[in-house]
Amino acid sequence: EDAERAAHFQARIDADDRIEPNDWMPAAYRKTLTRQISQHAHSEIVGMLPEGNWITRAPTLRRKAALLAKVQDECGHGLYLYAAAETLGSSREELVDLMLSGKAKYSSIFNYPTPTWADIGAIGWLVDGAAIMNQIPLCRCSYGPYARAMIRVCKEESFHQRQGYEIMLTLARGTEEQKAMAQNALDRWWWPCLMMFGPPDQLSQHSDQSTQWKIKRFSNDDLRQKFIDATVPQAHYLGLTIPDADLKWNEASGHWDYGAIDWNEFKQVLSGNGPCNRDRIAARRKAHEEGAWVREAAAAYSEKQQARRTA
Ligand code: ACO
Repeated sequence: EDAERAAHFQARIDADDRIEPNDWMPAAYRKTLTRQISQHAHSEIVGMLPEGNWITRAPTLRRKAALLAKVQDECGHGLYLYAAAETLGSSREELVDLMLSGKAKYSSIFNYPTPTWADIGAIGWLVDGAAIMNQIPLCRCSYGPYARAMIRVCKEESFHQRQGYEIMLTLARGTEEQKAMAQNALDRWWWPCLMMFGPPDQLSQHSDQSTQWKIKRFSNDDLRQKFIDATVPQAHYLGLTIPDADLKWNEASGHWDYGAIDWNEFKQVLSGNGPCNRDRIAARRKAHEEGAWVREAAAAYSEKQQARRTA
């Protein structure tokens, strides 16, 4: 009977039907979506930290207002995503605890530091640019709540990308020092951004199944290539140099060829040894502990309301 259900489920996916929370689904589908959506949620929340670092030091009031709004958006994205993950049956507390105990992953990219203001430009331009490339196809993912959350998230990411590019443009047209700061940020963020798309296709353990289930619509390498093709002309427009001596336009394929990615660095960051892994987890744990009174107050209030209703 299970085989019959699984076949029916796959037929619905093949017909581009949306799967909703109360529909039957294979346990492995539920598991991989819970994994991916919760990792995505953790990334949004941890992703507030590198940029939050510059809120008090943004160079103008206008820059500060935009950065504050952006960091708040990331928090909102984390909350929609936890809500989407909860529709699959795991509680938010459970998921957050897995992140705080270091058992659940979040994006490798947020383990890099933001020493200069240009990093805020580079994150918006490159990190959010890479995030959009990966997330636009997720708007058509087979799981309804995830796909719908992605629509709003992508609209906001596109504002984030533009504010980042505009910071880079201002710096690139500024003094020699400002231009050097922009180039230095690009030098540090370029390769880690390429790693955001995940391991090369032949090493991506979840890709085949996730593609069959239409959670993934493009492979890790395909999205990485799309990102490079879109970003190289933007770097040229800024007058900045991409730190890859092997980057070359390939007339025959119509794509940019690029150099070898240091997958050992990626492995190190995933196993907790990136430049900021420890700081990021420590900051999240501290925030979680300091927020305990808010959760307790909300629970007490809800109990009181409940008691009044049943009295
Ligand atoms: N950082 C951390 N872990 C990663 C990364 C990365 N950049 N890329 C891949 N991984 C992990 C996978 O989560 C998986 O780990 P797990 O088995 O312990 O869960 C493992 O490496 C193997 O990778 P894949 O088999 O390729 O995994 P998957 O099919 O899930 O593809 C991808 C990875 C593309 C990141 C996918 O999960 C995805 O699209 N996620 C949603 C987008 C997202 O999370 N974005 C976060 C950054 S954007 C932002 O927050 C602004």
